[in-house]
Amino acid sequence: MSGHSSYEFSNPVVKWLDSRLPIVTMVKAQAMDFPTPKNLNYWWTFGGILATMLVIQLITGIVLVMHYTPHVDMAFDSVEHIRRDVNYGNIIQKLHANGASFFFIAVYIHMFRGLYYGSYKAPREVLWMIGVAIFLAMMATGFMGYVLPWGQMSFWGAKVITNLFSAIPFFGEAIVTWLWGGFSVDNATLQRFFSLHYLLPFVLCALVFLHVWALHVSGNGNPVGVEVKSGQDTVSFHPYYTMKDLFAILVFLLFLFGFVFFSPDYLGHPINYVEANPLVTPAHIVPEWYYLPFYAILRSIPDKLLGVVAMFASILILFILPWLDTSKVRSATYRPRYRQLFWILVVVCLGLGVCGAQPAEGGWVIASRILTAWYFLHFLVFLPLLGLFETPKPLPSSISESVLAKQAAKSTAAAQPAE
Ligand code: HEM
Repeated sequence: MSGHSSYEFSNPVVKWLDSRLPIVTMVKAQAMDFPTPKNLNYWWTFGGILATMLVIQLITGIVLVMHYTPHVDMAFDSVEHIRRDVNYGNIIQKLHANGASFFFIAVYIHMFRGLYYGSYKAPREVLWMIGVAIFLAMMATGFMGYVLPWGQMSFWGAKVITNLFSAIPFFGEAIVTWLWGGFSVDNATLQRFFSLHYLLPFVLCALVFLHVWALHVSGNGNPVGVEVKSGQDTVSFHPYYTMKDLFAILVFLLFLFGFVFFSPDYLGHPINYVEANPLVTPAHIVPEWYYLPFYAILRSIPDKLLGVVAMFASILILFILPWLDTSKVRSATYRPRYRQLFWILVVVCLGLGVCGAQPAEGGWVIASRILTAWYFLHFLVFLPLLGLFETPKPLPSSISESVLAKQAAKSTAAAQPAE
């Protein structure tokens, strides 16, 4: 079925429309018949999960805006009003707040899947780079969204993060004043953050469109990492992967709704239930959990400017990752040394997250420094060198060979008499 480019439609209305705007042909070719490697595992369902999360955030966000007031005197109360008075308001608000966290859980899994299977390598470099742009846009959107309820952490988080720009030589102070729209975080700041928080998700949609477009040019990678031979190694996207993705999406949503209904505040900060007060600084200002590793990198360096540079560099470095990794082999399954490094990187990132949540003092700062150093060494030194010196395991000649070899191994094991 895969690979068709023209269809005969029996429905006359569809036929009429499609001959004028071949949208049905496009959907059929790109979303139904699209040849997809037959060995994709569940880590490949996170793209679909992410698309679902984006839609949930958009819908809940648009409903929230119907009742929210972006003004310093009313923002906090309007969110309380949504939670208490608006029909289903509590669920919609909690779905949006926890949805942001789950969006980030999914994106981190999606990115680490890419790192493990070398999804960023040729011919998927642009696909990966658009992904990094998506990640940046998500971070900006999440940051500005968190300011909107105008709680204590919203206000002080905004102050700390925008103040980072004051570290830029010569123009720093002017940039911060420009970002704030005045001489402090105030109504002008809240209103511009609201405006951008509404705008950016649509930029995100455009970036996701480009991302999926690039994906459909290069085709999916796969866990084995060898090129697919069309026909022999592929199945049509529908029904095989539509059903698998749907199942994964539903399981993921079970967890999300578990939080929304049973522990809606677990991922938030209690202090954000106190209205913003510029005269009372909270004892401990921490960002949302999904920014913690980057916050730890920022604070690990004693110099403010260098800290800001390191924090941004830790994300921007991902843009050039396809050229930093010199190995010809994509999947970590066939790269034993890289696999070890990958798991160390996972632990390093989790460790940075833990450090980011602690006060910047004593052993936590030392731990953050060591982990930050490892993070940069991983990308700038270990990856380029490893590709040159590592001996990968022999690759199967096709994904069919790899699938059949696994099946043969299973049936041999089953045929062996138990000892
Ligand atoms: C809203 C956010 C995102 C959405 C909706 C999205 C969507 C998708 C979808 C539907 C796929 C195909 C299925 C799959 O492989 O899971 C995919 C693949 C991919 N995505 Fe994303 N993505 C997002 C963010 C990102 C980010 C942040 C990165 C990296 C920084 C990234 C990198 C990739 C790569 C490299 C592939 C190809 C994987 C392969 O086939 O080997 N994506 N994405």
